[in-house]
Amino acid sequence: MSVSGDHFNSVFANVVQAPEDPILGVTVAYNKDPSPDKLNLGVGAYRTEEGKPLVLNVVRKAEQLLVNDPSRVKEYLPITGLADFNKLSAKLIFGADSVAIQENRVATVQCLSGTGSLRVGGEFLARHYHERTIYIPQPTWGNHPKVFTLAGLSVKTYRYYNPNTRGLDFEGLLEDLGNAPIGAIVLLHACAHNPTGVDPTSDQWEHIRLLMRSKGLLPFFDSAYQGFASGSLDADALSVRMFVADGAECLAAQSYAKNMGLYGERVGALSIVCKTAEEATRVESQLKLVIRPMYSNPPIHGASIVATVLKDRDMYDEWTVELKAMADRIISMRKQLFDALQARGTPGDWSHILKQIGMFTFTGLNADQVAYMRKEYHIYMTSDGRISMAGLSSRTVPHLADAIHAAISNVA
Ligand SMILES: Cc1ncc(COP(=O)(O)O)c(C=O)c1O
Repeated sequence: MSVSGDHFNSVFANVVQAPEDPILGVTVAYNKDPSPDKLNLGVGAYRTEEGKPLVLNVVRKAEQLLVNDPSRVKEYLPITGLADFNKLSAKLIFGADSVAIQENRVATVQCLSGTGSLRVGGEFLARHYHERTIYIPQPTWGNHPKVFTLAGLSVKTYRYYNPNTRGLDFEGLLEDLGNAPIGAIVLLHACAHNPTGVDPTSDQWEHIRLLMRSKGLLPFFDSAYQGFASGSLDADALSVRMFVADGAECLAAQSYAKNMGLYGERVGALSIVCKTAEEATRVESQLKLVIRPMYSNPPIHGASIVATVLKDRDMYDEWTVELKAMADRIISMRKQLFDALQARGTPGDWSHILKQIGMFTFTGLNADQVAYMRKEYHIYMTSDGRISMAGLSSRTVPHLADAIHAAISNVA
């Protein structure tokens, strides 16, 4: 056999081309489009009114402090990450007055953003929890089924969204969770459900909590948008805190990608709330065994930024103001898009644009309408009709409204 030139038989000759990721693939297609009018509403990343990525002032300040501190070195972090970061992250999600924290019943480990936190939590459960089925909402963030399947869990869905009302399918949700096996794990979006933008009310959360506790279902919260939904860090953690307050177990995966704009720094935390401090210690020891062979220990820079901001009162306050400004801009985009569709007399009820919460609007546009808008208007979004409101600006709203109007009018 020849090993050179045209006759070289590659050992990878049988590797087939994999499809693009359905969400990140939207950006790939967008980047290839030469149109000056193109608009990327696919990926969930905040943009300014000028359409630019934003680094928060308080993050710049924290980075400056870190750079100017000669005592800082680049040693490995422990397997569990930066201790300060972990403590402050637990406080952020569970509340400063959390009894679980006071009783040392929470095991928190720094992970690679929200995705890494979900994966580590999933792997821990697959090894140590008696029921290996996780129920995820239908629909949900596209990565959830892949993360949990690869972690070793069996993934099932529960009804979440009613396309007719464009709201929560509360009866379907209760029925499906009611029929889940005793002890099953249930993935819950803490706030700003992705992709629907539909969250349970606090009464509905209480109902869900009672049902889950009565059946011993284990809550696994995915908190990727704390502060982004309402502009308040406390309000957006309400669901998690309701569950923790009853004294039973739960898991929470936190991401600082959106709320601190640290997307590429990959900063997040997994917390497991246990019944006793002694149990939490054992749980943490097992989390280390999950992490060590996966990536050994987490990166230091992003977690140091977060810890610097969270532990300084003034910087923390500054963060909350910047976070609120991002949330408010998104809310104002909802109003502007709704008004623009009203002004065009676009057929249909578009009030869900105002009612939905967080970064995304689940427009109700079908895959053909989405394809039409891409072809005719160079507007990019996921094929389920989800648009990132954070990618819109006052300048681009009319273009989007024209496109939606045309898609609704011309494509069934
Ligand atoms: C619901 C949900 N969970 C988790 C993530 C994970 O994001 P990251 O890994 O960037 O923190 C995202 C990001 O889009 C998300 O929408």
